[in-house]
Amino acid sequence: MITTVEAVAQLLAQAKRVAVLTGAGVSAESGIPTFRDAMTGMWSRFDPFELASPEGFARQPAMVWNWYAERRASVGKAKPNPGHFALAEIERRVRHFTLITQNVDGLHQQAGSRRVIELHGNIRRVKCSRDGGVKDGWTEDGEVPPRCSECGGYLRPDVVWFGELLPARALQEAGSASLDCDLFFSIGTSNLVEPAASLPWTAHRHGAKVVVVNPTDEGQRRGPGIEYLLGNSGEILSQVVNAAWHKTSKATHS
Ligand code: APR
Repeated sequence: MITTVEAVAQLLAQAKRVAVLTGAGVSAESGIPTFRDAMTGMWSRFDPFELASPEGFARQPAMVWNWYAERRASVGKAKPNPGHFALAEIERRVRHFTLITQNVDGLHQQAGSRRVIELHGNIRRVKCSRDGGVKDGWTEDGEVPPRCSECGGYLRPDVVWFGELLPARALQEAGSASLDCDLFFSIGTSNLVEPAASLPWTAHRHGAKVVVVNPTDEGQRRGPGIEYLLGNSGEILSQVVNAAWHKTSKATHS
C-alpha cells in the first residue's frame, strides 16, 4: 500500500521501538555510486567477484587494494545528506532505536548516528587478511597492499566480500532489533541481498509495521501490511521528521 509522509510521521511519533535498515539508496543523494555503478572506466572490464572476494584478492591483491583505495577516496569526499541527518535525529528522539546498515561508507556516523550496526563492514577501515585484526596507521605510499605491522599479512578493506560471513554480533543484534521493534523502516535498499533482505519480513511476522522508503516499489517484495513511502530518502525522511516533531512539514502526499 502506498502511504504518506503524514501517516508515517504519526506512526513514528507514537512508536516505542524503531528499527531501520538502510542500503545504498540512502547514500545516493550524497553522490556515492553503488558497488555496481562504481564499475565504470577502467574498472568496467573487471568481474565484480574478482574485486570483492577472498579468492580475487589472493589472485590480484594490488589490483583489489587499488580499487578499494579509489572508492575510499571518493567516499572520503562525500558528505552525509538530509536523510542521514534525519535518521540521526530519530535516534535522539526515540528511546529504543536501532540503525542497521548495509552501507560501508560511514556516512551515518558522520551525520551523528551514535550506534550503527554495520552488516557489511566499513570501507574506511582496514584489517589484516591473515590475523583478521582491524588496523590503524597504515600508509598508501609504500608496498601495495600495505602489510600488517604485527604479522606481515596483506591489509585489506574491512568489508564483507562475496562468500564471507557477516559479522556474527552485528547480525545477531540486527535480528533481535527486528524481532523486538514495533516499527521497521527499510530505506534505500533493493532488499535482495540476504540475510539483510529478510529483516523487514522478520519484523512484520512479529507484528511490527513495516515502511519501505524508496523512489520505486518495483522489484520490492510485497505483502499485506507493508507500506510504501515513495520518494528519495534525503527529501522524504526530513519531511517525516518535520511532520513527526517539528510540525512544519511542507510535505505533499505521495
Ligand atoms: N533514496 C532512497 N532509495 C533510493 C534512492 C534514493 N535517493 N536512489 C535509489 N534508491 C533505491 C533503489 O531504488 C534501490 O532499491 O536504493 C536501492 C539500492 O539498491 P542496491 O543498489 O541493490 O543496494 P542495496 O540494497 O544496499 O544492496 C545490498 O548488495 O551490492 C551489495 O554489498 C552490497 O550492501 C550492498 C548489498
